[in-house]
Amino acid sequence: MFNTKTYIQRRAELKKKIKNGIILFLGNDEAPMNYADNTYKYRQDSTFLYYFGIDHANFSALIDIDENKEIVLGNDFTLDETVWMGPQSTVKEKAVKVGIKVTQTLPQLDSYISNAVAQGRKIHFIPQYRYDNMLKLQSLLGIDARKINEYASPELIIAIAGQRSIKTADELKEMENAIAISYEMQVGAMRLAKPGMKEREVAGFIEGIARSMGSGISFPIIFSRNGQTLHNHYYENTLANGDIVVNDSGAESLLHYASDITRTFPVSGKFSQKQKEIYQIVLDANLTAIKNIRPGITYKEVHLKSSKVIADGLKALGFMKGNTNEAVAKGAHALFMPHGLGHLLGLDVHDLENFGEKYTGYNEKIKRSEQFGLRSLRYGKSLIKGLVLTVEPGIYFIPELIDKWKSEKKFTQFINYNAVDKYRKFGGIRIEDNIVVTEKGCRVLGKPIPKTIEDVETAASDKI
Ligand code: GLY
Ligand code: MN
Repeated sequence: MFNTKTYIQRRAELKKKIKNGIILFLGNDEAPMNYADNTYKYRQDSTFLYYFGIDHANFSALIDIDENKEIVLGNDFTLDETVWMGPQSTVKEKAVKVGIKVTQTLPQLDSYISNAVAQGRKIHFIPQYRYDNMLKLQSLLGIDARKINEYASPELIIAIAGQRSIKTADELKEMENAIAISYEMQVGAMRLAKPGMKEREVAGFIEGIARSMGSGISFPIIFSRNGQTLHNHYYENTLANGDIVVNDSGAESLLHYASDITRTFPVSGKFSQKQKEIYQIVLDANLTAIKNIRPGITYKEVHLKSSKVIADGLKALGFMKGNTNEAVAKGAHALFMPHGLGHLLGLDVHDLENFGEKYTGYNEKIKRSEQFGLRSLRYGKSLIKGLVLTVEPGIYFIPELIDKWKSEKKFTQFINYNAVDKYRKFGGIRIEDNIVVTEKGCRVLGKPIPKTIEDVETAASDKI
């Protein structure tokens, strides 16, 4: 965990932004896989981690703004629990480490909140994504669990999202620790993958790296020869000579900060000429985005500049035609890049996404587009110093999408369907880095991971 002062300062900052009432933080409990005692890998709620640092199940916390109190609520282990799970520090000891002196037991939360509700005091909470926590709020506040998120506090969401989105030097260091793990996951996969191997052999190997070097993966690994399926979690294909593989994977540092890196590499160690041509366009789109990121520009503009590189590159190869400015404005290039350029990254891989995009990725001025492709951009607003984002352009040949658009004669002025048809089995290429917005531009986080054609071929030829 960070030092005690960090948590004290984070809460002090938050308290300045909330006028009155009580802020209620629910930590995450264990999540059963198939019966109560057989649980998924435990993951604390990121907002709870951010303000209270306690990485254990069965905790809640309160900040009472009106009475200037901070309270951690949890139960000490019983002897029985100690027998099964080993000795634990007490709730008091855990609280003191994050600068909190007052602790209560979990059942005391009921009376604290019911007294406050009876006095008509405001209870602030953030939107919930776990059903057990929705039920807890239902019982504490008497609000139907299914409607609980309608009662989340905009004042609190805006304060927390604003604070968590700007990364401090300590947080950037943690994120670079996560990227150091990604480096091993990416280069390890390039070196291990060989014709005849199942995708799962490589996916399992890199998941092991994430577990052995940090807190595990930050989202389910995408490792596939069918990279045209954007979030492909199927690992049963056998790798073959001539295949390119998309490896979109990330790790959590020990303090649970995420990385999210994608590389695409040839299983044999050498790209074909056709693969090189498409790869270079995606690389140029990635580099163009990185060059354009700076405070003040909107991420939507960066997305569109990167998309223009894709459209120009595909036009040069004969897949697109006509005026590429117009093609991008109308969304014709989205046949090849149907997703957004990137998203916020932090304690969560899609950071702050649980707060709802009207408080994070978009606002009154910049609204999410309804256009296919652009509508999948998760962050469209102006950039400010300290934001961490992914930059992840790609080009994909998705047979089902090609067939649909072709049958509808969609964008025939911009797309050369005869040429596209010949690439139906090409797959997909994505290249993703993690950047922090700086004073004048941005910095790519972490030690560089092979990205040029030459560097990827060198790493992918150096087989284990
Ligand atoms: N890395 C997966 C995603 O960004 O959605
Ligand atoms: Mn991503």
